[in-house]
Amino acid sequence: MVVDADRDGTALPFAEGQCGVGDVRTILRQIYRGSDGYAIPDGEKRRVARAHSKATYGELLPTATLRLLEHLQPTAHDVFYDLGSGIGQVALHVALATAVAQSVGVELVGTRHATAEAARSRALALGCARARACTLLNRDFLRVGLGDATLVYTCSTAFPAALLRKLAAKLARGRLGLRLVTLQPLGSTPWFAATATLRLDTSWQRRTPVHVYRLTRRAP
Ligand SMILES: C[S@@+](CC[C@H](N)C(=O)[O-])C[C@H]1O[C@@H](n2cnc3c(N)ncnc32)[C@H](O)[C@@H]1O
Repeated sequence: MVVDADRDGTALPFAEGQCGVGDVRTILRQIYRGSDGYAIPDGEKRRVARAHSKATYGELLPTATLRLLEHLQPTAHDVFYDLGSGIGQVALHVALATAVAQSVGVELVGTRHATAEAARSRALALGCARARACTLLNRDFLRVGLGDATLVYTCSTAFPAALLRKLAAKLARGRLGLRLVTLQPLGSTPWFAATATLRLDTSWQRRTPVHVYRLTRRAP
């Protein structure tokens, strides 16, 4: 049994290896205390620009992640990816709160990735063995193999349209039935069918439209 103290001094008895869904927001608060992903060095901004992307930061709030998970109902057969995972709070949330086989966060900005790794280490130190189901990669998501993905989330609001098109084309070569959750809509696509639009709270706007698609036809 690992016992730690929350911000208000309340003892948190986390049984080793277990984090109940109700605990997850408390754990996230603890492991991210004093951390955020907003300011990044100029060199990192240039790295993102070279990848023809945008480093703009914002987050899906933890209550919104829970609502998204209620909608997706992930199982132990799922492999979840957050593409552009920032400081990793969605990827870690999914690992801690669900039974997915893997939750992978892919983030290009090194300082954000380092914050995510530190938070994952803190979760493990708190006894949350499920944090081991979370893998964090400091990479360009267009250069990462996504062939095992069944659930993909991307907070794509600021992504250039061309980047999102490339990402959709890459995912379309993935597993039939893959579900893609994107904040920027895909527009017309021969591969994905829109299945839902959720309204979820983000750090910049309440009830942000969040678009859910299913891969119904694979790209050759
Ligand atoms: C708006 S933040 C989303 C953070 C987190 N996923 C969330 O929803 O709370 C988008 C992130 O995508 C990252 N990003 C942009 N282009 C990328 C790329 N090609 N590969 C990996 N990460 C990228 C940015 O650095 C940024 O941290």
